[in-house]
Amino acid sequence: MKILDVKNLNVSFRVNGKIKTILQDISFGVDEQQTLGIVGESGSGKSVTAMSILKLISTPPLADMSGEVLYQGRNLLPLSNTEMRELRGKEIGFIFQEPMTALNPVFTIGDQISETIMAHEAIGKKEALNRGIELLDEVGIPRPGLRMKSYPHELSGGMRQRALAAIALSCNPRLLIADEPTTALDVTIQAQVLELFKRLKRERQMSIIFITHDLRVIAEIADHVLVMHQGKCVEKNTVNTIFHSPEHHYTQKLLSLVSDRRGYGRA
Ligand SMILES: Nc1ncnc2c1ncn2[C@@H]1O[C@H](COP(=O)(O)OP(=O)(O)OP(=O)(O)O)[C@@H](O)[C@H]1O
Ligand SMILES: [Mg+2]
Repeated sequence: MKILDVKNLNVSFRVNGKIKTILQDISFGVDEQQTLGIVGESGSGKSVTAMSILKLISTPPLADMSGEVLYQGRNLLPLSNTEMRELRGKEIGFIFQEPMTALNPVFTIGDQISETIMAHEAIGKKEALNRGIELLDEVGIPRPGLRMKSYPHELSGGMRQRALAAIALSCNPRLLIADEPTTALDVTIQAQVLELFKRLKRERQMSIIFITHDLRVIAEIADHVLVMHQGKCVEKNTVNTIFHSPEHHYTQKLLSLVSDRRGYGRA
């Protein structure tokens, strides 16, 4: 059963007065309780794909968007801003590419989590703050009660990513979209954050779209993989096929850039 089914998504931007095709005929699905990895080099259209699903691209630069984005069978493209706001955060949680800009520097982590919860649910500040503490605990932040009072700059990079995950999870989304959530982290912290995503998927029975340009991360986290190149989907396959018998020459080229891929991909 698919939770998300994107069909023939086309997106164009107006850049310096000219219409530029950004996404061309992108189709892919995300199964229930599975992780879809989206991989591709810088500029291939990964973030625009994520932002299009959430309808978060403003006009300008957006010139045109067509196709279908079916979430549990319902096409999101015709929905109003109000309907989309309802869905974002509640049904579909998201973590943006830049943790520093995604968190507001002038508010504490606790304020940011509790505001998100209260925006979607009719509960009071105290209850929302308690829920925030539970969430920080769930994503593995030590002494969560104390951390609620911290400002973003007082947290390490790995902790900021965990705090963003906590905010994204605060309304129990069924689908989580995470755009390069581990890219800015050093390898050890990256491994911990990947473990966190795997655990959350298992425990919350969520589906995840995980965007990265790093094939090693894909090998760790994804069940299925979408390979993007210049705004197009060049290959969709299981993680094992991608690593052991890639069909498209571009996927083969990406793989050849990874020095040692023995043991990549899982059953
Ligand atoms: N606000 C914008 N205005 C004009 N062009 C844009 C804008 N945002 C993205 N683009 C263009 O859209 C294309 C896809 O960009 P996108 O951000 O989706 O790439 P990406 O795969 O996420 O890259 P990265 O790995 O660097 O994050 C690129 O050609 C980029 O230049
Ligand atoms: Mg991006």
